[in-house]
Amino acid sequence: MPANAFNGQTDYGIGIGLRKPHYQHILEQKPTVDWFEIISENFMVDGGRPLEVLDQIMEQYRVVQHGVSMYFGSADKIDRTHLKKLKALVKRTKTPWLSDHLCWGSVDGTYTHDLLPMPYTSASARRTAEKIRQVRDFLEVPICVENVSSYAEYHVSEMTEWEFLSEVVEEADCGILLDVNNIYVSAQNHDFDPYAYINGVPHHRVGQMHVAGHTKFEKYILDTHDHPVLDPVWKLYAHATKLCGVTATLLEWDDKIPSFDEVHNEALKANEFIDGAKAAKRKVTPASSRQSDKLPAGSRRYSA
Ligand SMILES: [Fe+2]
Repeated sequence: MPANAFNGQTDYGIGIGLRKPHYQHILEQKPTVDWFEIISENFMVDGGRPLEVLDQIMEQYRVVQHGVSMYFGSADKIDRTHLKKLKALVKRTKTPWLSDHLCWGSVDGTYTHDLLPMPYTSASARRTAEKIRQVRDFLEVPICVENVSSYAEYHVSEMTEWEFLSEVVEEADCGILLDVNNIYVSAQNHDFDPYAYINGVPHHRVGQMHVAGHTKFEKYILDTHDHPVLDPVWKLYAHATKLCGVTATLLEWDDKIPSFDEVHNEALKANEFIDGAKAAKRKVTPASSRQSDKLPAGSRRYSA
């Protein structure tokens, strides 16, 4: 699959994150699930139980890799040792694409283990895109970069977050993992219109979406992934699906993890919005449908 041709080619259905509390249930009950997202770092080991479980899962299910430590936006050079381990896992899973975050998180080899927001400047977009290209060329797999939730901004930023994301993915010629919950969280924290964000990214590059639950505090919202998806996030998801087409959708539930069935049933709520998007697409004329597919990179339509 070409790196820039995600449109319509990643309709994997609705998946959930593969998490330890569910291993036994999945292996014993073999529930019907479209696909699982795995955290690459949990399986970058030489052997043992994690890889045994992964191999058994892969006998039954499609698996897509998601990473949390690439730090495309860090000024540090790429960690070749890390990349070699990641490539071994990519070969094992045959992941159709690989995602990680549009963020930074290390300085001079010291890692923060946080997904820190980028300064939205053209210079940092160029450097980040170059790193994404290097990683893709080494791993030989299409890359999707994910927008993070954020709680701080930089005075030096020259553009909006969605303009920055668009600039990076166009320059890198890569895909987007659009996390609509992260967009909602950041929009509330920084007072921007989340619909403007979704309208403003190159829709044909969106290869995957994330939904998740968040927690409201008095002065900010935190991306906690510890309960069901809230209604405003589902509405954003519905809007994004109409614009981007049906892509692989993944529910993230990482804390206070309930039963497998509860997590999976929450994820399957996405079907309602996918069906709505498909019905809306059938109603539009072929000409207007094609027009939306051909949106020039970075073009924006500010209507909610
Ligand atoms: Fe996410």
